[in-house]
Amino acid sequence: PPLENIINMHDFENVAKAVLPAKSWAYYSSASDDEITLRENRMAYQRIWFRPRILRDVAAVDWSHTILGQKSSLPLYISATALGKLGHPDGELCLTRAAGKHGVIQMIATLASVSLDDILDAGVPGQPFFLQLYVNRDREITRKYVQHAEKRGVKGLFITVDAPQLGRREKDMRMKAVDDDAGAKVQEGQADVKKDQGVARAISSFIDPSLSWKDIPWFQSITKMPIILKGIGCAEDAVLAYEAGVQGIVLSNHGGRQLDTARSGIEVLAEVVAALRLRGYSRDKFAIYVDGGVRRASDVLKAIALGASAVGVGRPFLYAFCAYGQQGVEKAIQIFRDEFEMNMRLLGAKTIADVVPAMVDTGSLKSH
Ligand code: FNR
Repeated sequence: PPLENIINMHDFENVAKAVLPAKSWAYYSSASDDEITLRENRMAYQRIWFRPRILRDVAAVDWSHTILGQKSSLPLYISATALGKLGHPDGELCLTRAAGKHGVIQMIATLASVSLDDILDAGVPGQPFFLQLYVNRDREITRKYVQHAEKRGVKGLFITVDAPQLGRREKDMRMKAVDDDAGAKVQEGQADVKKDQGVARAISSFIDPSLSWKDIPWFQSITKMPIILKGIGCAEDAVLAYEAGVQGIVLSNHGGRQLDTARSGIEVLAEVVAALRLRGYSRDKFAIYVDGGVRRASDVLKAIALGASAVGVGRPFLYAFCAYGQQGVEKAIQIFRDEFEMNMRLLGAKTIADVVPAMVDTGSLKSH
């Protein structure tokens, strides 16, 4: 369908499914095992209800935000998704160009199919980027990669901590990664892998499963970029991250692609905020991001009301460029903008700072 006919993120998903080769669709859409966490990432938002405020003069509403000290036109960032060229010949550059034009922040994946430098070169002057890091068994490779990103002006290092081994994405495994036509920029030092385990497994064998809390000081010693741990799933680990002196966390289950039946980020947010408050946490000193299942501006507003600093969005932007390239991503950003305008008016919030806990009813969420 023509891009004008796309009116929400679900439309992009349907179009992507129709236009993508089966192998690409399997890699992008799949999640682990029975895909229960994938489903629940969506369902959790549908169990949270609004408590709107009225008569607050919402003629002018403003949904711009600051994420990790960087200006953002939306209170969300584009989360890292690997292998953009499986979806479009320009791959991740579709995200970069749309993000640059509209003031949105892109998190670049270690396993992007366009090199880090080519992505950064495609940005407009001053365009902020974050980097997602898979930690290599060979720490020298990781050190060089991180320090290069810092030198090039990347604003935040998101270390993925929920993937010591990649989840079994069975849809993807059935497709078999017989060839690497995605042009994944696979890091040096990667061991040979069997190519019969799906795209994901074939490209991820360099990731170090021995990574532990003891490694955090090393990361802090090699970079001055803010460090965020991506893939925290409970209050205990949120507290350890806080005490380790990193700058924030992403409550995430990797879009349902890692441990199946892990709770959704949005569902553990309340326990995380409560545990951190006991330890003197304040929102301006430590960031709590949430990702997984965000498809509407209303989802983002619910997360912010519950204490999230901002929200990450993965598949919707990926699906947006499959059929439409950069224009699709621009349209996705426009749709989010329109949804923020309407939802903030109807919620009675003039700015993101007005979005407070009393605006949501979590009574239908898990028992506390
Ligand atoms: C991802 N995600 C991911 N995360 C990461 O840390 N490194 C990576 O290489 C990837 N790659 C990746 C590929 C694909 C195809 C998907 C769908 C996801 C996870 C991603 O950053 C984010 O956590 C989820 O996508 C959020 O869930 P939604 O928005 O897709 O529901």
